[in-house]
Amino acid sequence: MLKLENVKKTYDGKDILKDINLEIGNGEIVSILGPSGCGKTTLLNLILGITEIDSGKICFDGQDITEVSMEKRGFNIVFQDYALFPNLNVYQNITYGLRNKPDISTKEEVEELISLLGLKEHLEKKVEQLSGGQKQN
Ligand SMILES: Nc1ncnc2c1ncn2[C@@H]1O[C@H](COP(=O)(O)OP(=O)(O)O)[C@@H](O)[C@H]1O
Ligand SMILES: [Mg+2]
Repeated sequence: MLKLENVKKTYDGKDILKDINLEIGNGEIVSILGPSGCGKTTLLNLILGITEIDSGKICFDGQDITEVSMEKRGFNIVFQDYALFPNLNVYQNITYGLRNKPDISTKEEVEELISLLGLKEHLEKKVEQLSGGQKQN
């Protein structure tokens, strides 16, 4: 479980986040909504440990991780920016990162993941023909 207690973040003397209290259970899916500039990215960055908190506490599975470095938290994020190569098709984009590490996964494992993510029928497409969610997959 992820728990935020009285989280506060100030930028240039202005409160961006204040009195943020939040509990997210394991497997729970939560959306953070709000207008541009309200602090959504800042909140995620605090949880990830990319941004330093001003005051308050972040706990994960009962452990205080407020001062734990980003690498040691081991959280993951899929950024809005997909970082795909526009000149390569979907299959080439998926396998690009594997070129220099051919031993990391077998062809069968890659195929299995492609099916799991529902990308099988899109492999020959250009990335611009995909939806936002398909790009993230
Ligand atoms: N590194 C920073 N330094 C100064 N101000 C920042 C910084 N990052 C974000 N801000 C400010 O904090 C506010 C919230 O930004 P952000 O969390 O990116 O909003 P959102 O993701 O909800 O659009 C904005 O006013 C933004 O200008
Ligand atoms: Mg944002």
